[in-house]
Amino acid sequence: MPEAGEARRGLKLAVAGKGGVGKTTLVALLARAAAARGYRVLAVDADPNPTLALTMGYTSPLPPLAADEELISQRVWGEGLIKLNPTVDDIPDRFAVEHRGVRILVLGGIRGGGTGCACPANSFLRALLRHLVLRPGETVIVDLEAGIEHLGRATAQGVDALLVVVEPDKRSLETAARIRGLAGEIGLARVYVVGNKLRGEGDVEFVRAYLPSGLSFIAALPFSEEVHRAARAGRLPDIEFPEVNRLFSRLEELVLH
Ligand SMILES: Nc1ncnc2c1ncn2[C@@H]1O[C@H](COP(=O)(O)OP(=O)(O)OP(=O)(O)O)[C@@H](O)[C@H]1O
Ligand SMILES: [Mg+2]
Repeated sequence: MPEAGEARRGLKLAVAGKGGVGKTTLVALLARAAAARGYRVLAVDADPNPTLALTMGYTSPLPPLAADEELISQRVWGEGLIKLNPTVDDIPDRFAVEHRGVRILVLGGIRGGGTGCACPANSFLRALLRHLVLRPGETVIVDLEAGIEHLGRATAQGVDALLVVVEPDKRSLETAARIRGLAGEIGLARVYVVGNKLRGEGDVEFVRAYLPSGLSFIAALPFSEEVHRAARAGRLPDIEFPEVNRLFSRLEELVLH
């Protein structure tokens, strides 16, 4: 345990995968699991179509920071040039909202993360993500945009583990294989597959059989009728998801010990 006054080391996780596989659901569940264990948690929505806050039950409007042109241009421009390292340290405390023990920060989209697009919003968002993952004493869980195009060094830097969510279908496993390739290029060592919406042992076996080589299958989350029903209102129900608690414990073991 940390000494009094010493920040407890948190985990820095990012969640990726094909569209609709359950990234946002997993981020919300992991954020709850981490908060329940006493971590200070920051859940970050980095999807251009942000849904994390609502999924977590936060219903007030929460405009993405990427849309705040005034803030971005204030921070990013210096002597007529875009700064590569704009000041962002005050941003989480100013803009994150606290909801049921989890702080939520809605960034919005990060375009061309790996390709080095030099637009101001990108420079700002990348600096912010880098800063967030380097802050001590906080568990940060980032909900990434579907697909892989945005996955760049900036997103990966300082992330302890990248979780790739898959469904029992070949396309989401193909996306996982592409993400693995990219993760290798950007030097991310810990990349784990989380199976989601699995209906029985047959689905678990399917994911195992088509798992891209070099990836470890770290958790199998069942299809939940309650999650499915609650999605009509866009929210995650208040249910126990023991598989997610176990996943979080496993990540603590892999990352912190
Ligand atoms: N374990 C589960 N059981 C049942 N339904 C689930 C489960 N996980 C996710 N879903 C449902 O699948 C849908 C997609 O989930 P979610 O929004 O989390 O996916 P996503 O990967 O974040 O999607 P996007 O790519 O659009 O951001 C939602 O309706 C959600 O409620
Ligand atoms: Mg999502």
